[in-house]
Amino acid sequence: MLKQLLRTKAIVDHSNSGLKKCLTAFDLALLGIGCAIGTGIFVLTGIAAATQSGPAVVLSFIFAGIASAFAALSYAELAASVGGSGSAYGYSYVAFGEFIAWVMGWILLLEYGVGAAAVANGWAGYFIGTLANFNLHLPESLTKAWMVGGIINLPAFAIIWVLTILLIIGVKESARFNNIIVIIKLSTIAIFITLASMHLNTNNWHPFMPYGWFTVLDNGKTIGVLAGASLVFFAYFGFDAVSTAAEEAKNPQRDLPIGLLASLTFCTIVYIIVSGLLTGIVPYTQLNVPSPVAFGLSQIGYTWSSTLVATGVLAGLITVLLVLLYGLTRILFAMSRDGLISPAFSEVNPDRQTPTKVILMCGLVVSIVAGFIPLGELAETVNIGTLASFIMVCVGVIVLRVRQPDLKRPFKNPWNPLIPVLGILSCGALMYFLPATTWIRFGVWIVIGIIVYFVYSMHHSKLRS
Ligand code: ALA
Repeated sequence: MLKQLLRTKAIVDHSNSGLKKCLTAFDLALLGIGCAIGTGIFVLTGIAAATQSGPAVVLSFIFAGIASAFAALSYAELAASVGGSGSAYGYSYVAFGEFIAWVMGWILLLEYGVGAAAVANGWAGYFIGTLANFNLHLPESLTKAWMVGGIINLPAFAIIWVLTILLIIGVKESARFNNIIVIIKLSTIAIFITLASMHLNTNNWHPFMPYGWFTVLDNGKTIGVLAGASLVFFAYFGFDAVSTAAEEAKNPQRDLPIGLLASLTFCTIVYIIVSGLLTGIVPYTQLNVPSPVAFGLSQIGYTWSSTLVATGVLAGLITVLLVLLYGLTRILFAMSRDGLISPAFSEVNPDRQTPTKVILMCGLVVSIVAGFIPLGELAETVNIGTLASFIMVCVGVIVLRVRQPDLKRPFKNPWNPLIPVLGILSCGALMYFLPATTWIRFGVWIVIGIIVYFVYSMHHSKLRS
């Protein structure tokens, strides 16, 4: 039994998987940026500044960015040497064996699926608000999930289907679409940076750290720069989706490390500048609003900018959704190919060269979750899953250096095992500052996954003897 749980997979060459190899390092970097820059910087910055970190939200972003950087370096080593479209799931299969790989895949499904549904809800909020600016109103029952007094959140449901169809049309077309929208999103951010830097009032940066590094409140909740880092970490979730595109990259050994590190570095710089400027133009206490970046600009007199920024955010959230859905389908594809879930999920449509069935199934499930369940409170659940997967990737680097010292590593971290150890410590610290309820939800999800493994996956695994 133990032998079964620990059975590992050999590193296989997926160069003939049937998926189209068309993504360049530039496409991959934009894929990471397209997914990472979204709700985190446009919405959570304001909430974190007002309720957790104050102007020191810049430090929160730096801490979360440092933890992500250690993880990114570990991802780069495994993506280049192990490869495959399963990302942390595939690496775990090679490093730790089937059981841990299953748990990892199960966590990634939560991360990407719930993440996409939650971002779709955020997108719907901006969409409904922008329609209202033009005096267009949807019936209220079609703007809210039934759990909160409506029937369905129709815009959230619909946006998932639009993107599902786009993914079915083909990955290159989707990557091209992603590239255009990322450019629109970055232009919006450039406008914000230009306008905000002309109205900087450094008095707004005092007090810089009103709640210290961490402060425990009477109700047991922890606030401060480190708890803020655990929250804004959501802004970094997504750059790792680059590694799920390994089998569609033209030259994965070279392009994946470049794509991962370039997108993370770029996002970190953008987050530092945007959060620093935002708390520099408006007192941090006023930033707990649904669209803090647009609000900040209107506070310094640029009222027209509110609609402009909302449009950029809408475009930005679309690319986040696109990459999350893309990642979700590719993880399921990899798990199915290993026999751990139904083989229907790894069929590639020969005409389109995309796994059509799995994309449709993801669209169906995520659109239902997005349309019928209000998922705002689940953002931290996504974070705990992401941090757990980052830690597993770091541990995977250390284990594989011992188990397979001669593995060809086109990208190799220096001073082994310093970088993965720092990744484990920094991601572990961010997990520590997440609320107890988040830990409980995460535990329940893992228990369900373990049951599914023993009931189905273990008996259908391609590695069964
Ligand atoms: N990092 C993505 C965002 O902030 C998920 O929306």
